[in-house]
Amino acid sequence: MQIALCRLIKGLHCFPPFRVLSFLAAWLTGGILLAAIAVIPKPLSVELRDGTFPLRATTRIYVQGDAKDVAETAKYLAETLAPATGYRLSIESLREIPSPRQGIILSVKNAPNDLGKEGYILDVAPDRIEIRARYAPGLFYAVQTLRQLLPPEIASRQPVARTEWPVRCARIKDVPRFPWRGFMLDSARRFQTKEWIFGLIDQLAAYKINVLHWHLTDNEGWRLWIPKYPELVKPFQKGVVWEEEGYYSHEDVRQIVAYAESRHITVVPEIDMPGHSHCVVVNYPKLSPIDDPGRREPGLRLHKYRCAEINIGIPESQAFYRDVLKVVMELFPSQVIHLGGDEAKTNNWLENPACRAKMKELGYSDPAMLQKWWMERMAQWVHRQGRTSMAWGERMQLALPPKGQIVHGWRGESKPAILAGCQTVNSFHKNTYLDYGNAKGDGMLGVLSLPKVYAFDPVPADVTPEQARLVLGSTAPLWTTKQPQEKLSIRIFPRLLAFSEVVWTAPDQRNFTEFAARARRHLKRLDAAGISYWKAKEL
Ligand code: ACM
Repeated sequence: MQIALCRLIKGLHCFPPFRVLSFLAAWLTGGILLAAIAVIPKPLSVELRDGTFPLRATTRIYVQGDAKDVAETAKYLAETLAPATGYRLSIESLREIPSPRQGIILSVKNAPNDLGKEGYILDVAPDRIEIRARYAPGLFYAVQTLRQLLPPEIASRQPVARTEWPVRCARIKDVPRFPWRGFMLDSARRFQTKEWIFGLIDQLAAYKINVLHWHLTDNEGWRLWIPKYPELVKPFQKGVVWEEEGYYSHEDVRQIVAYAESRHITVVPEIDMPGHSHCVVVNYPKLSPIDDPGRREPGLRLHKYRCAEINIGIPESQAFYRDVLKVVMELFPSQVIHLGGDEAKTNNWLENPACRAKMKELGYSDPAMLQKWWMERMAQWVHRQGRTSMAWGERMQLALPPKGQIVHGWRGESKPAILAGCQTVNSFHKNTYLDYGNAKGDGMLGVLSLPKVYAFDPVPADVTPEQARLVLGSTAPLWTTKQPQEKLSIRIFPRLLAFSEVVWTAPDQRNFTEFAARARRHLKRLDAAGISYWKAKEL
């Protein structure tokens, strides 16, 4: 019914005389039909039913099946409901689904195949809630949806005085559109504490994001401890405005990776090379293509480094990055390892004899080709370790990316990538960069309004269904150049809500007006959780 109404709204939008009617219909779906259900990202199908399920202190959680991760999801459910309700819900194991009794049942049995790895069915009846999925991620996302069916105060970290927590009866079937639903955190430009990152992970999980792309190295900071190269994390650039100390120990990384994993989020590490490497060339000058130390110093303005590229003409640079990546692979179980590859100033290499010799050896006249050669070698090495490499989609015009590498499009490279048969994650900056201003002048570079995020389709126009399958999804990057930790929340919210729907919900089910009605109600959840957000004029 809801879907039919939304289709009607979309159709009506094509005819200007019906715009008012269309707005009213959207308002109706937002205001009345969805009054009891404001799930974000919007599920595949929702059938509202009469009545409510009363969550009480005596409600039990039943686990059907012996799988360890089913029990873990049940534990997560109990834990996530505890702070606001004060309940300590008990968990019991079941062989068979019992005759009706007051409880929440989690089961991986008899779930239809079309739910895939991450889909779920959530059935809320007055006497029981039944969750079915084929695998643990599906159960976990059903739990996130269930949380959103409870009153907004459920997001509070303090106990809320209520004797009963009603859940509106409904049957929800849900499957995501894309397998890659990412958020990128830049911890290099500015440092964030481990505790802050735990909180971020909880919010990402709430909106069914499943990849945390972690940008760990850049000109302004190298944040990962590499025992063989202790100088990398040394604070430097004294007196430069963006200087900030801090790095992550191996124990910190393990905790963050485990915390994310328990919320079905894969942490994809990024080590940016061969540009954006000021920390390397300043602390290990032998790896710089430029001898003059003054030319390696930062200028006072962002990106004004005279040379932040490493010397890609010498074997020592490859050995350095292999050492670094060995540590990275020990710490991060992620199949995908991000090798950066963006914005290298290739002209610096022309000044270096080793780089010039390498160009001659390879028959290149353009130093940009040297970068292609370097990225190819690093990718092949990563692939030999059994992992998959990913890199920003630079210089698609020069040559194909290394075989098997995932192209991370940001300036429109995703379409050429898929036309060349490569898998891609599409982070087209004009629709996904969360560091851009919410409104004019309040962020980096451009402006990214809520409707502009919502309007994004990661699948470029005019591609075949087969080519479209090469689009794994999208990541919303948050570059932190001018953004200390305490300012990040208003960059993320409410735009993350719109983005989550871009990567989860099919385009023909999306309508901004109707989304805005649901998002407005989510602001209450953010308030209850004490999370600050941008007061978008559209909400
Ligand atoms: C980028 O924004 N430099 C990938």
